[in-house]
Amino acid sequence: MAVYQIVQLGEDILRQKAQEVKKITPNIHKLLDNMAETMYEANGVGLAAPQIGISKRIVVIDIGEGLIELINPIIVEKSGEEIESEGCLSVPNVVGEVKRAKSVVIQALNRDGETVEYEAEGLLARAFQHEIDHLEGILFVDLATKLISKNEIKN
Ligand code: NI
Repeated sequence: MAVYQIVQLGEDILRQKAQEVKKITPNIHKLLDNMAETMYEANGVGLAAPQIGISKRIVVIDIGEGLIELINPIIVEKSGEEIESEGCLSVPNVVGEVKRAKSVVIQALNRDGETVEYEAEGLLARAFQHEIDHLEGILFVDLATKLISKNEIKN
């Protein structure tokens, strides 16, 4: 396994629409493994492939309840609204308030190519929306109403 360097705000790849995964190959499995390792190493709760410079619709998430791997994820249902503070490994040292759906249902393929569905609310719903946005080239700073540098918080 390997830890990737995380792409930072300003790099074009973060703004591109990521490519659909057409075939789940051993390389995709390796990518999933390495993405999870990179996320854990960075103490993140989610990571999308464009964040490691790979334009593919792949996401890993772990909010402390176990690893979730998503290939070609889509949101099929959204409800409610919630404003919470959010950050991103590609935009270090900045947090912002972002309004998102309170609960979502998402569908994706797992690493075996099976369709999986997750119903989530709260932090997990937020993580799904944040990571799926990455696949569209959208960053939380585009949506945030208040952006605060972490240095300001300390001072
Ligand atoms: Ni992010």
